[in-house]
Amino acid sequence: MSPVSVAIDGPAGAGKSTVAKLVAERLKFLYIDTGAMYRAVAYLCVKENVDCSDTSAVDKLVKEHEFRFEEGRDLGLLVYVDDQDVSAYLRSPDVSERVSLVAALPEVRSRLTQWQRAFAKTHSVVMDGRDIGTVVLPDATVKVFLTANVEERARRRQQEYHERGFDVSLGEIIESMTQRDKLDSERELAPLTSAPDAVHIDSTGKAIDVVVDEIMRLVERAHVR
Ligand code: CDP
Ligand code: CDP
Repeated sequence: MSPVSVAIDGPAGAGKSTVAKLVAERLKFLYIDTGAMYRAVAYLCVKENVDCSDTSAVDKLVKEHEFRFEEGRDLGLLVYVDDQDVSAYLRSPDVSERVSLVAALPEVRSRLTQWQRAFAKTHSVVMDGRDIGTVVLPDATVKVFLTANVEERARRRQQEYHERGFDVSLGEIIESMTQRDKLDSERELAPLTSAPDAVHIDSTGKAIDVVVDEIMRLVERAHVR
């Protein structure tokens, strides 16, 4: 049987990675967090002091370093740069602030898109990101566009930052999230947008399990279980 794919796209903090991980766990599919791949490139730029919008400098950096992605124990993606596990550094405010800049660069996108497609060729996957249903896997078995209102998305992110030891005000998070969503939606290449055949789910005020159940029903309806 050929591999099955569940594509989950949407703006920051909509709950994509949380629900994608749980759906993957239930289906015993591989969970691929494509945002972590873009974050790895942004992390490297921060570490090496490279301007994230400087196309040639970022391309050079990506070519000179070795990236490796592995399934982690809690089903999250483990990200290695030059054999060093950098997974713990990818969600810092510093990286979040810059990631949309590297994600707009054509070379970076084409390289990461190839890696993502390679995973889906050999494994059944639940993949989350911004362009999975539109560009990376246009023939995905199930496509979901997950949203929530910006206040709720920002509150969720604030709680996550707090748990990681970063205290950031709600206003600052709303501002940087809105800015990132704007950059992601307005870029020329693979912008954040719903595929025409994606099912829209608004997770505002919804418990995680309720969203997971909705997606599981879509998978069941597609007759892949
Ligand atoms: O978790 P959160 O929604 O905050 O972000 P993420 O999924 O980790 O993605 C971080 C950033 O990577 C996004 O804001 C996009 O700029 C970029 N990204 C992308 O362009 N395409 C994807 N398929 C996934 C992420
Ligand atoms: O991947 P994305 O940026 O879309 O969001 P996430 O990192 O999965 O979710 C952000 C936070 O919202 C997580 O801490 C989840 O536990 C929480 N969440 C929630 O409270 N209710 C939901 N229906 C989904 C996520």
